[in-house]
Amino acid sequence: MADRPYIVGNWKMNGTRAMLSEARAIDRAAQRYMKAEVAVAPPYTLIHAVHREAEQIGVGAQDCHPGAEGAHTGDISATMLADAGAKFVILGHSERRGAHGESNDLINAKIESALDAGLRIILCCGESLELRDSGKAEEFVLGQLRASLPKIEDAAERVTVAYEPIWAIGTGRTATLEDIASMHAAIRKLLDETYGPEQSAEVRILYGGSVNPDNARDILSTPEVGGALVGGASLSAESFLGIVVAAS
Ligand code: G3P
Repeated sequence: MADRPYIVGNWKMNGTRAMLSEARAIDRAAQRYMKAEVAVAPPYTLIHAVHREAEQIGVGAQDCHPGAEGAHTGDISATMLADAGAKFVILGHSERRGAHGESNDLINAKIESALDAGLRIILCCGESLELRDSGKAEEFVLGQLRASLPKIEDAAERVTVAYEPIWAIGTGRTATLEDIASMHAAIRKLLDETYGPEQSAEVRILYGGSVNPDNARDILSTPEVGGALVGGASLSAESFLGIVVAAS
């Protein structure tokens, strides 16, 4: 699994049924370019519809409730996501840590629920510009991961990490290739310590933060970058496939 780059489109709060034509175009084209593993995480309302369309690409979710079921108005459980066809769930995204005040404890409860429901997890981490400028980015990011990497025996099959510097998300400004390489190397060392080198080697570390068809090849060629978690550029089949081609 780790030898194929993993390109995941996080549609965030975007997408009506009109987006199904984009998903269809991505899926059909991916059949031709499938050297990369390709997936999309649409909003909840489209997960089942995209799952029904998708023959090649994976489908996942952007979050889940920590509980299995019950009186949680408006929430969606990992079990429901799996039932709708999701194969993975993105957890700990900075937009949820920030806007929803998600603590490591809450994220860990969601991780446990997602794994129990048979989903793979994409665990997000990333620093603020203030921490980057103060030289504390690596210490902060590794702290996030130490707090949340699940202690499981099959991390190779169940865990993906996404490093997304907060200041690069949606800004058009990516981290430098040197900073990406340095952070991914530090994350890989932590994964080796946590899971052992053999399991760790199969855990891909995605980069996210203003990835687009023009910068994708350089970013994906950077050591320990196992793929990309793409926001804005995943909303059109043309730009998202430009990244998939760069990965292939
Ligand atoms: O989860 C991916 C996302 O945070 C990156 O967004 O728009 O900078 O590609 P974007």
